[in-house]
Amino acid sequence: MALAMVCALCGTFGYAAEKVATAPDKVLIAYYSWSPDGHTHYAAEQIQKATGGTLFEIKPKVPYPANYRACVDQARKECRAGFRPELSNPVKDMKQYEVIFVGSPNWCGTMAPPVRTFLTSYDFSGKTVIAFFTHGSGGMQNCERDVRKLLKKANLLPAKAFFGRSIRDANQEIADWVGSLLTVQSKTAKQ
Ligand SMILES: Cc1cc2nc3c(=O)[nH]c(=O)nc-3n(C[C@H](O)[C@H](O)[C@H](O)COP(=O)(O)O)c2cc1C
Repeated sequence: MALAMVCALCGTFGYAAEKVATAPDKVLIAYYSWSPDGHTHYAAEQIQKATGGTLFEIKPKVPYPANYRACVDQARKECRAGFRPELSNPVKDMKQYEVIFVGSPNWCGTMAPPVRTFLTSYDFSGKTVIAFFTHGSGGMQNCERDVRKLLKKANLLPAKAFFGRSIRDANQEIADWVGSLLTVQSKTAKQ
């Protein structure tokens, strides 16, 4: 019975149900967003509002083509090959963050290649990592699974996939999801 309850509280991948306690200055929200609608950017902004953390845009050195067809063609090849494009901007001091949200559009069923680069550019051991995605109707597909493959030493909390076109109606859903995973308290609020 007790075991059944614990299992029920765990996600698909067996995550612990306990919330992570942290402070706003310990939270980084890194995201890559490609489309002019900026679905993933928008989701990242909502997470920033919910946590008080720092927003960080992941930027490839060479931007992807603005043309949708050309971008899909390039993305398909790169995703299949596990390609990691160079990024133009490092996080200044990754050591200061203990909770890192990482956001990506679902590209060809997985994370966008710049996010793959980001996840393999830092040591995430001991840090809490929370991946989020926006998609065009495919949902999570292999996004969460592929992040897990790259981050064996991090404390990975359940990822979330949001339907991109409805993202601007998802403020409450995003806030509730963040609240279900984290307790974020500033140092002054604790006193
Ligand atoms: C290159 C490319 C590949 C995509 N592949 C998928 C996919 O496999 N499954 C899916 O549901 N959506 C796919 N989409 C749609 C995006 O995931 C979706 O529109 C997302 O919300 C865009 O986020 P953004 O505005 O932050 O770029 C793809 C979009 C692009 C540009």
